[in-house]
Amino acid sequence: MDPLRAATHADPYPYYAELRAAGGLVFHHGLKLWVASSARAVEAVLAQADCRVRPASEPVPQAIATGMAGEVFGRLMRMNDGERQRCPRSAIEPALELIDDTAVHESVAARLFTADADGLCKAMFRGPVAVVATLLGFAPAQSRTISELTADFVACLSPLSNDSQIAAAHAAAAQLRGSFIELLADAEVSSALLAGIRQRFEGDPDALVANLIGLCSQTFDACAGLIGNALIMLQRQPELRAAPRENLLAEVQRFDPPVQNTRRFLAACCEIDGMRLAAGDVVLLLMASANRDPALNEQPDRFLLQRPNRRSFSFGNGRHACPGQGLAMTIAAATLNKILASGLDLDSLAWYYGPSLNGRIPLFSIGGA
Ligand code: HEM
Repeated sequence: MDPLRAATHADPYPYYAELRAAGGLVFHHGLKLWVASSARAVEAVLAQADCRVRPASEPVPQAIATGMAGEVFGRLMRMNDGERQRCPRSAIEPALELIDDTAVHESVAARLFTADADGLCKAMFRGPVAVVATLLGFAPAQSRTISELTADFVACLSPLSNDSQIAAAHAAAAQLRGSFIELLADAEVSSALLAGIRQRFEGDPDALVANLIGLCSQTFDACAGLIGNALIMLQRQPELRAAPRENLLAEVQRFDPPVQNTRRFLAACCEIDGMRLAAGDVVLLLMASANRDPALNEQPDRFLLQRPNRRSFSFGNGRHACPGQGLAMTIAAATLNKILASGLDLDSLAWYYGPSLNGRIPLFSIGGA
């Protein structure tokens, strides 16, 4: 096991506890990066201004730098610090907070899928992005296309992608860009979310388009993982099946998060949690481990629906904290309701975690099919 393989291991949590016991922030010689495993270290790294989301020498990963996927990536708030983050974020964050939960529930309820493995996969991956696309003003059929294109685009965000996935990601980025440019030019579009973002946005149009694509790409894997990890909990603990979905999901996101880790790159040397880190160093932040730190949550290895003062790093913290948390939780609750109402037999689900260095996203089969 190592801190990257842990993300897709059947049970990484005893290993995370060992890492915390060995020190909250330790240099891993095999991976050549610092590993922050305690809540204190994760919080300190996320709060440190010199810990950036991309290395200064490679703002866009080399593998995608020369195509449209790289153009989009280079403008995402998630992948920038300074003005390129603050400007889109100040327009998008308040607009996301105003989304009406009823509209989300209606959008999920209107989607159709079958109670088989293919239907479950579509509900987990395609559904949430289609909801976001619909909220942004796309018609239902267009929203389905946006979710297909997003699936191709996000493949380029993983260091595990191959050349043909990267080529498909460039093509998808170009099509997504075209679709969003058309959406923004269409006077007939009625979307409170899009109107709210446009009203507040003051940067260049390419940054707006990139960050609208970013809303879809940030939704894709993370929502699928949250929904999938909730289904696994329901299979393991049948007594949870009657629990209010919101309570269930609030604990699932802490207990078994879909985004297990993230990274930061040191722009200058600094002292964090008693350790001296140098400019150019890389830190891997294990949010999934920090959530199980007894210093953050009492009895952290127990799954408690009613956890007083639940604390979690699953949606990040500080400057880059996820602005879509509320929306993600509502989409996941509505989707889970829909999946369970479809009559899916939870006990017949088998799964493996899709290959990833940071995502914990189960891919299901049903009854051996
Ligand atoms: C269960 C679902 C989700 C999870 C677990 C999740 C988790 C995260 C995490 C951990 C970060 C911070 C990454 C870092 O600091 O390195 C983040 C950032 C972000 N998320 Fe989410 N997210 C989810 C869903 C969504 C949704 C639905 C949206 C929007 C529609 C969204 C939009 C964003 C954006 C735009 C950022 C970048 C913010 C910035 O850099 O300022 N996320 N998310």
